[in-house]
Amino acid sequence: MWLLGIESSCDETGVALVHAPAGERVPTLVADALHTQAAMHEAYGGVVPELASRDHVRRVLPLIREVMSKANQSLNDIDVVAFTRGPGLAGALLVGAGTACALAASLGKPVMGIHHLEGHLLSPFLSADPPEFPFVALLVSGGHTQLMRVAGVGHYELLGETIDDAAGEAFDKSAKLLGLGYPGGPALSALAARGRGDAFALPRPLLHQPNLDFSFAGLKTAVLTQCQKLGDDLPAHQADLAASTQAAIVEVLVKKSLKALKQTGLQRLVVAGGVGANRLLRAELQAACHKLGARVHYPEAALCTDNGAMIAMAAAMRLQSGVQTAQADYAFDVLPRWALDNILTH
Ligand code: KG4
Ligand code: ZN
Repeated sequence: MWLLGIESSCDETGVALVHAPAGERVPTLVADALHTQAAMHEAYGGVVPELASRDHVRRVLPLIREVMSKANQSLNDIDVVAFTRGPGLAGALLVGAGTACALAASLGKPVMGIHHLEGHLLSPFLSADPPEFPFVALLVSGGHTQLMRVAGVGHYELLGETIDDAAGEAFDKSAKLLGLGYPGGPALSALAARGRGDAFALPRPLLHQPNLDFSFAGLKTAVLTQCQKLGDDLPAHQADLAASTQAAIVEVLVKKSLKALKQTGLQRLVVAGGVGANRLLRAELQAACHKLGARVHYPEAALCTDNGAMIAMAAAMRLQSGVQTAQADYAFDVLPRWALDNILTH
């Protein structure tokens, strides 16, 4: 079975073709293509929803053509068209949903609306070393920071989440305070490589609480206070402050992930979402899990941030496990505030 995936929930248009041969445990990624709007939104310091929607309109068809040509397949070979139904920006989601439904209708093939976070959760199955169920998932993106117990496709139990800012937001907001532009996560971590992580004592909220919740809003305030204190001296200390910020975020993520493994008695940790591309986080989780005798799985670095492959992959796995069927109903709707709980299988 061939599945086309279309992701357009925020500022990346992603398209991919996944092949799910009958009887194989894990579907394979055949071709993908991505356009990121980061440069377009940079001037505004964040995503401008109307500009995002218009750009998805411009990009989505050329990207579909590119994927089909890379895969050397024709549109008629597609069996299912999957798209991100939510959560995300309403106008942006509508572009992907509308394109997916129009394409599927013209081909006489069914569609599947996929939850964006489930796409991230299952994206490590696209790696050369896919995990086995059950596992603990650390989902760290620009909008979410959650620890989940994943028993199988559609069986997700929330163990803890952020009570305010997401980890990616903490990276982005701190980077903005440091004058690093948008999106700040990759820029901040690149700068941090030249600084000392223990140069500034920044807060690690909720670190010693017994629960698995996170809080990052206080960190941003602490970074702001340091920036104000440093004043004109900020440039000389910028790398140290970036490294200290990264160290604070990473320490909290690592310690809470380990706590989740201990609490659930599970031996596998899966990291997904944009912040999963962070090198320090990867290295520290690897070391900490190794000590515990646990294994950590990541998606390929390029598939940590938003992409079409994870959407096609989630659709393939939902079909294979029988938790969802593809529908020939093209009256699409999108769910900008779709809670992951609503797709759980009991
Ligand atoms: O999953 P994603 O692409 O989009 C959302 O669904 O939010 O995640 C984007 C987030 C942004 O906050 C970005 O700054 C962060 O992931 N990010 C990073 C790195 N690469 C992306 N944060 C820290 N270090 C990185 N290397
Ligand atoms: Zn995402």
